[in-house]
Amino acid sequence: MLRKRGSFILCGAFLFITWNAVLVLLLRGKAHPGEGDVGVAERGVAQSGGAARPAGDVVADVLRMADTFQAQLERQKEILLQIKSRRPSRDRPGGGGAEAPATPRPPVVPVLVIACNRVTVRRCLDRLLELRPSPELHPVIVSQDCGHAETAEVIRSYGGAVTHLQQPDLSDVPVAPQHRKFQGYYKISRHYRWALNQVFGTLGHSAVVIVEDDLEVAPDFFEYFRALLPLLESDRSLWCVSAWNDNGRDGYVDPGQPGLLYRTDFFPGLGWMLRRELWEELEPKWPASFWDDWMRQPEQRRGRACVRPEISRTLTFGRQGVSLGQFYDKYLRHIRLSSQFVPFTTLDLGYLREDAYLRDFQTRVYDAPAVSYQDVAQGRLRGPGPFRLQYSGKDAFKTLAKNLGVMDDLKSGVPRTGYRGVVSFFHKGRRLFLAPPPGWSQYDPSWS
Ligand code: UD1
Ligand code: MN
Repeated sequence: MLRKRGSFILCGAFLFITWNAVLVLLLRGKAHPGEGDVGVAERGVAQSGGAARPAGDVVADVLRMADTFQAQLERQKEILLQIKSRRPSRDRPGGGGAEAPATPRPPVVPVLVIACNRVTVRRCLDRLLELRPSPELHPVIVSQDCGHAETAEVIRSYGGAVTHLQQPDLSDVPVAPQHRKFQGYYKISRHYRWALNQVFGTLGHSAVVIVEDDLEVAPDFFEYFRALLPLLESDRSLWCVSAWNDNGRDGYVDPGQPGLLYRTDFFPGLGWMLRRELWEELEPKWPASFWDDWMRQPEQRRGRACVRPEISRTLTFGRQGVSLGQFYDKYLRHIRLSSQFVPFTTLDLGYLREDAYLRDFQTRVYDAPAVSYQDVAQGRLRGPGPFRLQYSGKDAFKTLAKNLGVMDDLKSGVPRTGYRGVVSFFHKGRRLFLAPPPGWSQYDPSWS
């Protein structure tokens, strides 16, 4: 590791020197056209423009070029200084062998915090800043909507530790009269579009983790997303990584498996990572409101899954929000936040790849003995599990889910946390699968 880093630095230094040598040669060629080789840029002018341009123009060109080069040099210097500052001191003397290949730079994964008018964004930010392993690898970008002065003041109090963006359009979104009560959802959607355009367009990032201002994150939050980025990049059947388990209440998760991860067809949101490619696909058709349910429609999801954890890596403390607090009191506030640090980047996460996962998943679910709700309710299950509870219609699903205490709502036909129709959860110390009959082929969007 250290050797690789050493050679990476050597390589950087070599490139730096070479680049400067090229610049000097270019500048000399430009400044004294009669004396040496014709500069590359000038050759371009002579070939494409035909007639030679007056000498004054050439001088202006050279000055412009010199400016560009100067800017380039400044950037190179910055990069070299960054490399130098990250280089551990024991790596310095006599360091890396030239034979080792250069280490690719660790990816930068910014966190975008969506804020509006709640000063409690502080709770979210304090935790993120306390936990982030490096400000360079995880810049925190707070995008604020709503123009709320007090909240802006709180965000500003973090100084250079976060980047504070302000969504400029504070006007009401024109909506049909019967949608007036949903104005908030329109504003959220507009804000998301703007903020993601800033992250991917203006700031040029290639992936981002989105967090809302009422979320608190778990100790291994950064570790989790860092570990899953390569999978998100390479497995095209995935479109997101989420920190949220919709059924992650106490008693419904296996406390002994904090490192367990799943694929899900349900878009969980609530602390989730996406890549620039996905944003480029969604941005042109981004909806005016209800962006999360829109994401859950088959036209957007296009059969893709998200990764989600057994135990949530976010907790929502936002009882007062755009939606009413009932849903919060009934479900959200019970979702437990993982407290252990799982070193995800050192684990083999290959089991989450679609082909491997599907094979293993089918076997685990459909080899599990089928049991009835009565068996479960009356404590007639024998052995460690897992067990399978079959449902064959929407009503059966809802009844079973309600009785067992898991989320019974469906979006575009997909149950929360579901994968190929299967909801996996813990019940009195045993794993249960709420599953459709074998041979499942597709969701029915009319199930809601
Ligand atoms: C719910 C979802 C949320 C989703 C939203 C949109 C849960 C727990 N929450 O929001 O993930 O994004 O629906 O469908 O399922 N905000 C603005 N501008 C506004 C108002 C709010 O940017 O005018 C921001 C807030 O700062 C927050 C986010 O939008 O980051 C969601 O707002 P919140 O009030 O928390 O609404 P929820 O009902 O939780
Ligand atoms: Mn909220």
